[in-house]
Amino acid sequence: MADIITLTILFLIGIMALLIEAYLIYSVLLSRFCKYPPAFPAFGNLRAKTLAEAEKILSQSSKSLKVVDLGCGAGGLLLPLAKKYPNHQFWGYDWDKVMVKWAGFRGRKLKNLKIIKQDISTVDVKEFDILFSFLDTKALEIVSKDIFEKISPNAILISPAFALPKIKAIKEIEAKSYCLPLKIYVYSKSRNNL
Ligand SMILES: C[S@@+](CC[C@H](N)C(=O)[O-])C[C@H]1O[C@@H](n2cnc3c(N)ncnc32)[C@H](O)[C@@H]1O
Repeated sequence: MADIITLTILFLIGIMALLIEAYLIYSVLLSRFCKYPPAFPAFGNLRAKTLAEAEKILSQSSKSLKVVDLGCGAGGLLLPLAKKYPNHQFWGYDWDKVMVKWAGFRGRKLKNLKIIKQDISTVDVKEFDILFSFLDTKALEIVSKDIFEKISPNAILISPAFALPKIKAIKEIEAKSYCLPLKIYVYSKSRNNL
């Protein structure tokens, strides 16, 4: 009996290792041969604190709010919020076909969630109340230069781990991910307290 359990555990670890390896190869190929950077999800305390920051607003609003994740990956930020707040509306944009399919599959039962394959630089951001942008520094330059100007004056933009170049955050929250001390940066054009 003990042998079967040990073999099953080893088999499962082997499958996990293979899946991680396949994902790493996929990410390297994407970033080497296409314009796509690898997609890694917000994780642990960084993710929990990012969600908590959005929840402060979502939990208090009786009006239906619009939330977007610019570069939604597998939907790690949107799915828990869309499940918990059915009265608010959620959109995720990503240019990686695999991520879009995966996030769409995970959120297939949620009527308040839409996952769209689209470059974030072409998204009409002015209609959103809360925006997430967990992006590499190159993609954040687009957000900083073009997207931030277009967001609505009352919207807040939450950027886990990476600061928007040349824009001052209204709030910086200490967090941790993959054992690294990181910050979550919160931006708004008009608000100065949250
Ligand atoms: C670090 S991952 C974050 C995933 C998700 N937001 C999360 O926190 O779990 C960044 C994602 O942004 C996407 N991305 C980067 N630049 C993009 C662009 N210009 N247009 C659309 N998606 C983009 C990548 O494909 C990747 O899935």
